[in-house]
Amino acid sequence: MRDVGRVLPRNDPRQYDDLADEWWRPDGVFAMLHWLARARAALVPPATRPGALLVDLGCGAGLLAPHLAGKGYRHVGVDLTRSALAQAAAHGVTAVNGDATAVPLVDGCADVVAAGELLEHVPDWRAAVAEACRLLRPGGLLVLDTLNDTALARLVAVRVAERLPTVPRGIHDPRLFVDDRELVAESARHGVDLRVRGVRPGVPGLLRWLLRQATGAPTPPAQAPRIVPTGSRAVLYQGRGVRATDS
Ligand SMILES: C[S@@+](CC[C@H](N)C(=O)[O-])C[C@H]1O[C@@H](n2cnc3c(N)ncnc32)[C@H](O)[C@@H]1O
Repeated sequence: MRDVGRVLPRNDPRQYDDLADEWWRPDGVFAMLHWLARARAALVPPATRPGALLVDLGCGAGLLAPHLAGKGYRHVGVDLTRSALAQAAAHGVTAVNGDATAVPLVDGCADVVAAGELLEHVPDWRAAVAEACRLLRPGGLLVLDTLNDTALARLVAVRVAERLPTVPRGIHDPRLFVDDRELVAESARHGVDLRVRGVRPGVPGLLRWLLRQATGAPTPPAQAPRIVPTGSRAVLYQGRGVRATDS
């Protein structure tokens, strides 16, 4: 049900129903998800075998799909939000309505598991990591990005960002942000050697984008801000890791 005027608790998944029209607007409130999807897809190599499967946990409306085109994966998306899944399906994603902490797919089915901007929305993020690792075949690849459990992330991603017209209020609950060292340790417990690095939008592209937003001018996709590595993992970070072959 869509009710754009209602105020929901922080991190309530029904917010994604109310914002359903925003997913595929490149300059809409989910603009940064488009930039992050491009950066996440860049971590995924072309498939090495026919029929390779990429499981996209918390796939939303399937923003990753265009960036995987030509890489040779069947793209399966798992999400709680049916309105988002319908849009993902329209972009070629095989949609599965389900919880990332109890995914209705068999062990070791995935060549790649992606979890983009998901873990910071899951009260039991450790269970979602366990599921991601369970789904991976030995040698399979986990790629993710999330927000760190730091004071700086709470300041930037909640207090500052939510004052901007381009960020939905209440979309994040800062109590759910994910400590990078704990995530690495949890992944290791499940056989995945996760390497993490800080990322952020590139400053020139971000300034150009903000200027265009202020003037109401659309940003051509090729000029959207790029997500670039940065020395600090204190706010936003990416992870990439391979599941051990003997785990
Ligand atoms: C910030 S959006 C990210 C969507 C997508 N990964 C992207 O980057 O465009 C978070 C998504 O996670 C979904 N989600 C939140 N908790 C979930 C859970 N426990 N299981 C599955 N999906 C969940 C929401 O419905 C929403 O679509």
